[in-house]
Amino acid sequence: MDKMTVRDIEVGGKRVLVRVDFNVPLNEETRVITDDTRIRATLPTIRYLIDRGAKVILCSHLGRPGGKAIDKLRLSIVAKHLSQILGQPVAVTTDCIGPEVDKTIEKMRGGDVLLLENVRFHPGEEKNDASFAQALAQLADIYVNDAFGAIHRTHASIVGITNYLPAVAGLLVERESKVLEGVLANPTHPFAGLLGGAKVSDKICMLENIMDRVDSLLIGGGMAATFLKAKSYETGLSLIEADRLDTAVGLMEKATRNGVRLLLPVDVIVANEISAEANVKTVAIENIPSDWRIVDIGPQTIKHFSKELEECQKVFWNGPMGIYEIPQFAEGTKNMARLLASLDATTIIGGGSTAEIVTGMGLADAMSFVSTGGGASLRLLSGETLPGLEALPNKKEAKSD
Ligand code: 3PG
Ligand code: MG
Repeated sequence: MDKMTVRDIEVGGKRVLVRVDFNVPLNEETRVITDDTRIRATLPTIRYLIDRGAKVILCSHLGRPGGKAIDKLRLSIVAKHLSQILGQPVAVTTDCIGPEVDKTIEKMRGGDVLLLENVRFHPGEEKNDASFAQALAQLADIYVNDAFGAIHRTHASIVGITNYLPAVAGLLVERESKVLEGVLANPTHPFAGLLGGAKVSDKICMLENIMDRVDSLLIGGGMAATFLKAKSYETGLSLIEADRLDTAVGLMEKATRNGVRLLLPVDVIVANEISAEANVKTVAIENIPSDWRIVDIGPQTIKHFSKELEECQKVFWNGPMGIYEIPQFAEGTKNMARLLASLDATTIIGGGSTAEIVTGMGLADAMSFVSTGGGASLRLLSGETLPGLEALPNKKEAKSD
C-alpha cells in the first residue's frame, strides 16, 4: 500500500473526519451488538488521533436505511459501546450534517471524540453526491478513511469527500490492504486457498486471480456442487449454477495446466430439506440421492482437506463449507475453523461470514489475520481496485505542506 496515511499528516488540534465502518451485526430484537470486531479494529486510529490532540469526528453507515432516517439504525448504540471500550465519552449527534453538528463540533477540544449519525440517512451518501460530500467535508480540516469494510463502495463519505479535503488512509485500512495485497504478492509455499460459500459466480474473479499463486485450491460449500455437476456427478436438488458449469470446467482445466491441486469434496452431508429438522445422511459423492441436497462437506472430506492444509505454510480462507447457520450442517465449517486455528502457518481469513464464524467460535486470535471487509477483501483478492483506496493520494504524489 503506497497511500498517504494518518502518520504522514499533521493532525494536532485539527478537526479530523474519520470514515469508519461501524456496520456491526445487531440482535434483531434486543439491538445488542453481537460482534464488535469492526469497532475494536478502529481503535488504533482513534487512539492515534486522540493522543495527538486531534478533534476526532467519526462517521459511518449502519445497515441499509435507503436514504432516510430509521430509528433502529441510529448509531447511538455504537457510540455507547465505543465509549466503553475507549474509556472516554463519545458524543453523538442526531444527524451527520447541519446546525446541530456544527455547534457540537465548535465546542470540541483536542482529544474529544464525536460520532455523527448514520450517513446513509441521506440519499446523497450512496449516490456519491457532490453537495453532500461537500457538506461533510465542511465539518473538518482532514479526512481519514479507516472504513476498510466499505472501501469498495463509491459513496460520498468514501470517495466524493476526498475531492474537498486533504485525505489519508487510517491504520486499519493500511494494515488490511497490506496484508491482503501480501497474500498475492509474496506467498510463502505451500500456499492453499480454502474456498466455500454459496455461489461460484461470486468467486470466479478471485478464483481466477489466486490460481496463479496457490499450490492447492480446496473447494467446499454450495459452490462445490457446481464443480461436482461439471464433473458429471449427480448433485440431487443442490443449487447448481447451470450457466457456470463451463466456468467450473475452465477453472479445473486451468488448475491442471498450472499444476494447482484442486480438491473437491469426496463425501458430503445431504439433507432432504433445508431446516433444523431435516433428515441427514453422509454419502460418497458417487451416491448423492437425486431428491436430496448437499448441505455440508463430509467426514472423509474434512480429513482429506485437513491433510492438505496441515502441509501448508500459508492458507487463505473465504466462505463456509456448508449451510453453517443450521447447527447440524455446520460441522464441516467448524472443523475447518478449528484446524486453521491449530496450524503453525500464516492463516488469513476473508471478511464477512467467514470472519463472523471464526470470531463467534472465539478463534480470531488464533488466526494470523481476520479481515473486517467481506466484499472489500473479495474484490482486492480478485485483483480489482477499491474505489475508496483509489481516491486517496499516493505517498509520492502527495504535496509537501
Ligand atoms: C458490509 O458490511 O458489507 C459493509 O459495511 C458495506 O455495507 P454494504 O454491503 O451495505 O454496502
Ligand atoms: Mg455487505
